[in-house]
Order: sequence, then structure tokens, then C-alpha cells
Amino acid sequence: MPKEKVNNTRRKALQITSSVVGAVTVAGFAVPFLSAWQPSERAKALGASVKYDLSKLEPGAMAVVEWRRTPIFIVHQTTEAIKNLPSLNQKVANPALEEGVSRTTNEKFSVVKGVCTHLSCAPKYHPEIEPKAWDEDWKGGFFCPCHGSKFDLAGRVYKNVPAPTNLEVPPHSFQGDTLIIGEA
Ligand code: FES
Repeated sequence: MPKEKVNNTRRKALQITSSVVGAVTVAGFAVPFLSAWQPSERAKALGASVKYDLSKLEPGAMAVVEWRRTPIFIVHQTTEAIKNLPSLNQKVANPALEEGVSRTTNEKFSVVKGVCTHLSCAPKYHPEIEPKAWDEDWKGGFFCPCHGSKFDLAGRVYKNVPAPTNLEVPPHSFQGDTLIIGEA
């Protein structure tokens, strides 16, 4: 075989070998990185949506479920509470009319984060429509015991309280009797 042809054959063989070694090396480094990019089962669970069966929640009752480490308040509104909400538009700082008075697509249920927008205390649920120490004309809602912020049953903050904004509404949707928190 001519010397030049032998050299060409050897060169090709060397090129193939070094490409294979390179690919193996890249793959060897890439695996640990790729596995670091995969969310852990725990992280996946934390980000997952949460389902709640609304059929077991009586009118006037509230359930608390955890979503992304945040308590979510689910309130089954009474007919009277639904009727009262528009009358509170003047008392709340942000009536949130663009969201609809009930702030959900199903006015029978209020779905809000149970975290006061002042300094993150947990507001207490007071659905009773009766005079309270903090409001003689109380129409039901949430009262934050830390510094006295008041929210109506749709989570809208009253005027002249420390909390600056309404209770947040998490992304959610309704499928029949099932509430899905985490998916709009
Ligand atoms: S944390 Fe709720 S009023 Fe301050």
C-alpha cells in the first residue's frame, strides 16, 4: 500500500477515535449537570396543583388547604353573604370590580391566600353577620388579630387598616364539584 494512503487511513481512524472519546467525555460531564436540572420529587410535589372536593363544604364553612406551603382559605358563601358583598364596595379600599365582586369564577366560593398582606399573620375567619368589637356593622369576613386589618368574605381589604392590599387570590379553576388550586 502506498505510504500516503496508509497515512490517510490512520488519520481518519484517529479522527473517529477522538470524536468518540470527546462525545463520551461530554456525556460523562453532562449527566451530573442534567440530573441537577431535574426538579426533585419533593420540588415537583411542592409546585403541583391541589384538588379539593367542594361537595363536602357546607354553606358558611371554610376549609384550609396547603398549596406551595401557603394556606389557602376556601369559603362556601351563604346566599346572604353573596348578597352583602356589593354593599361593601364603599367600605373596601379596592373593590376589585375588574375581578368581579366575588373575585372567583364561581361566586359561591371564595378562594384566597390565608396570609395577611400587612405582615403575613394569619387572618381569622369570622363569617357571622353581627356587630363585632372591630366593626359594629360586620358583614362577615376575615379579621387579622395582629394589627387589626379587616377583609370581607371575598378577601377585599377594608379602608383605613394596616394591610395595604386585598388578600391574594391563587390561580384556581372549578371542574364540577372539584376546585383545582394552582391551575387557572
Ligand atoms: S399582619 Fe395582619 S394586620 Fe398586621
